[in-house]
Amino acid sequence: MNESSPVFLIDDDKDLLKATKQTLELAGFAVSAFPTAADALSALHASFAGVVVSDIRMPQMDGQRLFAHIKTFDADLPVILMTGHGDIPMAVQAIQNGVYDFIAKPFATDRLVQSVRRAAEKRRLVLENRALRQAAEQVQGDLPLIGQTPAIERLRHTLRQIADTDVDVLVTGETGSGKEVVASLLHRWSRRAKGNFVALNCGALPETVIESELFGHEPGAFTGAQKKRVGRIEHSSSGTLFLDEIESMPPAIQVQMLRVLEMREVTPLGTNEVRPVDLRVVAAAKVDLGDPGQRGDFREDLYYRLNVVTLSIPPLRERRDDIPLLFGYFAERAANRFKREVPAISVAVSRHLQQHDWPGNVRELSHFAERFVLGLEMAATSKPNEMPMTDARLPLPARVERYEAELIRETLSQNNGDVRRTIEALGIPRKTFYDKLQRHGIVRGDFAGFDGDERRSS
Ligand SMILES: Nc1ncnc2c1ncn2[C@@H]1O[C@H](COP(=O)(O)OP(=O)(O)OP(=O)(O)O)[C@@H](O)[C@H]1O
Ligand SMILES: [Mg+2]
Repeated sequence: MNESSPVFLIDDDKDLLKATKQTLELAGFAVSAFPTAADALSALHASFAGVVVSDIRMPQMDGQRLFAHIKTFDADLPVILMTGHGDIPMAVQAIQNGVYDFIAKPFATDRLVQSVRRAAEKRRLVLENRALRQAAEQVQGDLPLIGQTPAIERLRHTLRQIADTDVDVLVTGETGSGKEVVASLLHRWSRRAKGNFVALNCGALPETVIESELFGHEPGAFTGAQKKRVGRIEHSSSGTLFLDEIESMPPAIQVQMLRVLEMREVTPLGTNEVRPVDLRVVAAAKVDLGDPGQRGDFREDLYYRLNVVTLSIPPLRERRDDIPLLFGYFAERAANRFKREVPAISVAVSRHLQQHDWPGNVRELSHFAERFVLGLEMAATSKPNEMPMTDARLPLPARVERYEAELIRETLSQNNGDVRRTIEALGIPRKTFYDKLQRHGIVRGDFAGFDGDERRSS
């Protein structure tokens, strides 16, 4: 799992440097090799996400001095020193000073790889916990669009550039990726911030309702229209109109919308009156409207009209480096809300953060963070398709065991912890059931809902 962690490798012996680099690369690490400590030092920084592996004996700066330098800017950066036999006392001293590990040359490659792997895992935990604290500060400062990956930096930059222009914007992205966040930033960062941010979900309402919602109507415009109603387009004038799920906008409304976008005026139902509007439209879509295969019956001309600027938000799995920061932000927010401390991240949670696919994107991550703060993170990581149950590194019996435990947890959870129903669903004798609970360390009460009373059910 640390397979792509960076490793800085330093050795003045060119052949050894090459051989060790190869060994670590075969183990999957991203290795940068340096002939001197000074070279490595100039490329290192406090947020370096990996491990430093260095020879001790080198001319100019030796391994220990390198370590001393590193300690000045990041005392948690794991440094592994390699040393010849004669240097053992020196190495012991180094360990006492806080060096992560030392390895006597010549070494078995496995010894080195294992050590680097452990060090990389530790490094990751340190950085994640740091991100938690960093996020705590951001929560105070209320930074709305979290993320430091190039994709998000670029997005933020573009948002700043176009927010205060009147250009219409199409925002695309999977569910939960932040389309509404982007739309509301476009509003807040513009001169329109004083006006209304008016949102309409085009997928949630029937055609006739959308029509009168958007355009408004006069009394008596249609059956049931008793009072005059100002449409959302007019209501958003000098503010921002957010059309969510634009791909579901009924075709008849699309035609009218196109007209509104071109003319910048609106005619309420039941009138002939034309009212000019100071309009800025931000539309959001989950599909790529530029692709005829995905567009469905969405009008091409409306697409081109909206497509003056398109901002596409990449799914979370394509910007994984933002996960720790986002997670920290949501955990901190949840902790404030629930009046709890943010717990330290366990290895299991860390794995989940790194390995899960996040189909629900940032929204899913925020829910995960809330469960984490509430101490429910094991339940969260142990949904059958999220546990590495098919982990081929485990022997078969262990995998079967794990699967069994998962099934039991899941069935308990589905039945709110009701023993009788769980046993029925699993089709096993009561005694076997209790034996298995004990063996897997499952506590029935963890699954009890309001109707899951042990006494009543047994
Ligand atoms: N970059 C981000 N920084 C902070 N919070 C974010 C970020 N992206 C998304 N969120 C949060 O994640 C949740 C989902 O975001 P949002 O509602 O904007 O997604 P969406 O793309 O509109 O999803 P849907 O298509 O399902 O409507 C919200 O609570 C939002 O505040
Ligand atoms: Mg949305």
